[in-house]
Amino acid sequence: MSYLKTTNDFYKKAAETPDVGLCCTTSPVWLFPGLNIPKKMLEMNYGCGATVHHRDLTNNPTVLYVGVGGGMELLQFSYFSRKPGGVIGVDTVPEMLSASRENFIEAEKTNDWFRNEYVRLVEGDALNLPIEDESVDVAAQNCLFNIFKLDDLKSALSEMYRVLKPHGRLVMSDPVTPEILPDSLKDDETLRAMCVSGTQTYDSYIGALVEAGFGTIEIRAKRPYRLLDPKRYAELPHPVLLESLEVAAIKDPVLPDGACVFTGKAAIYFGENENFDDGAGHLMQRDMPLSVCDKTAAKLESLNRKDIMVTPSTFFYDGGGCC
Ligand SMILES: C[S@@+](CC[C@H](N)C(=O)[O-])C[C@H]1O[C@@H](n2cnc3c(N)ncnc32)[C@H](O)[C@@H]1O
Repeated sequence: MSYLKTTNDFYKKAAETPDVGLCCTTSPVWLFPGLNIPKKMLEMNYGCGATVHHRDLTNNPTVLYVGVGGGMELLQFSYFSRKPGGVIGVDTVPEMLSASRENFIEAEKTNDWFRNEYVRLVEGDALNLPIEDESVDVAAQNCLFNIFKLDDLKSALSEMYRVLKPHGRLVMSDPVTPEILPDSLKDDETLRAMCVSGTQTYDSYIGALVEAGFGTIEIRAKRPYRLLDPKRYAELPHPVLLESLEVAAIKDPVLPDGACVFTGKAAIYFGENENFDDGAGHLMQRDMPLSVCDKTAAKLESLNRKDIMVTPSTFFYDGGGCC
């Protein structure tokens, strides 16, 4: 597949000469006490969001990170997984692995808690991971899977599903597009490699996760990523705003009525009684918001009750609930 070769060539260059503006993001770079990120690692931040969330990273987890870049997020993951081989980085581009290896050597000099051996780097492909079944607690990728065409995206997701332990988490960040882009843009291999034109729509991206078997999906952030302006992309009839999505997909079983996708909706009962029981496991205390997945939100809305409000998606969900 020639677009995958173009991608490898593209990232060979980005490994040899850092390209600071490549995947510029509006997500903050997470800093933790005692964590110092080397300058070159920051310059090689080729992500479009963040995949490191401390709530996913309890009990010294084993983390798989696919598409290493300069290694910044692997260093951040190591912060929570301080054991030899606690973070495994997989990348197809040898030059990227070498560049990140140098960055980890640099990081060891300025982070007294960090040991180089915490990160194990492996040459390998997201479409055929050199990792055992059910061997990792957390799998992550940032701004790589959007480059893949839909069939390859599905293969990459089923590989992540395969290597995760039951209830393990896949944490990802990728751009999504509000509309299907013209073929001339989608077929432009360099624009794909630049994380500009390979993007799926939100529904297609989430649909691929559900199809891979993930039973619970959390949309953690959705932020402006790039404006595709017809002045630069003549095939577009109007400007298209790509957004960067941060998602956690949990390897829970899919329920008989479908996966639970949490987009930040809440349901609030404000009727005469102390609470409302929907008979499907949701007990709503009067006047108190209860986080609900989109499936439950739709069911509650379909009741057409005047004493139940369902709030819109915030696209900012990472668990929650008071009791
Ligand atoms: C957009 S960069 C993202 C880098 C890193 N995740 C970050 O946030 O800085 C994509 C990375 O994926 C690697 N890559 C490209 N194709 C790959 C594949 N098929 N399997 C694994 N890694 C791949 C590239 O070499 C590059 O390191």
